Amino acid sequence: MKNEKLKMKNENEKIEVKSAIKVENLVKKFGKGDSEITVIDGASFSLDEGEFVALVAPSGAGKTTLLMMIGCVLEPTSGKIEIGGDVVYDGKWTVKDDRELRRKKLGFIFQSHYLIPFLNVEENVSLLPYQNKEPASVVKPRVKELLDYLGVGSKLHNMPSELSGGQNQRVAIARALANKPSIILADEPTAALDISRSVSVVKLLRKIAKEQKVAIVMVTHDDRLLPYCDKILAIKDKKIEIKDKVDEHII
Ligand SMILES: Nc1ncnc2c1ncn2[C@@H]1O[C@H](COP(=O)(O)OP(=O)(O)O)[C@@H](O)[C@H]1O
Ligand SMILES: [Mg+2]
Repeated sequence: MKNEKLKMKNENEKIEVKSAIKVENLVKKFGKGDSEITVIDGASFSLDEGEFVALVAPSGAGKTTLLMMIGCVLEPTSGKIEIGGDVVYDGKWTVKDDRELRRKKLGFIFQSHYLIPFLNVEENVSLLPYQNKEPASVVKPRVKELLDYLGVGSKLHNMPSELSGGQNQRVAIARALANKPSIILADEPTAALDISRSVSVVKLLRKIAKEQKVAIVMVTHDDRLLPYCDKILAIKDKKIEIKDKVDEHII
């Protein structure tokens, strides 16, 4: 089986764990000549589906840059990226249609929810599936189910302005899940929330990773959220250092 690991659960049962992301020796430079800066210099790591990891580093260390390269939004300078076992970048983009790849395999969550203010909750979450030409008969029940799953099912027909910050962030998470991605990239998704709402969003992301078999990479500055993650990726000397998780007791 290509790019798939088999892990033994017990003697009789095998669980397939699929690779979600594999990054090899990724490099990103900005600028040219005297003004050239190297932000990422040989980052390598891999994640399986269902893993929920934090990406931590000081401001300006390249977290967003790395996330946007994995998200196929920003072109690396060199290296290799595999998404769901498929090579998408190997010195150059290898996919025919990178926009289609983003629409179908990736979900993004940001610090602000970026919901469209003149569309209601259902319409905001349905945008990408419709862009992917999925029929309403499939999209409508899935969006309702997702919003119920995220605890905002009763807000289906409300406008974003009628929801609280935490509720809007849940809608933004539903939107990120609506195209059934194999990876969610979350750039400081809790930065605008207080600690109790941050913990509830992070617990939700963890649950989503496990139940929906999605790999989630979350950039965060808040050490209090790290115990909820499976692993911590730190950018150190422009490379990735992987630390295994911390304190099991909090979860
Ligand atoms: N488009 C760009 N052009 C030039 N420099 C950039 C660009 N994007 C980011 N940088 C630089 O790359 C470094 C890392 O930025 P960023 O990835 O945003 O860091 P972080 O998200 O960790 O705060 C910073 O020094 C930033 O100024
Ligand atoms: Mg950033």
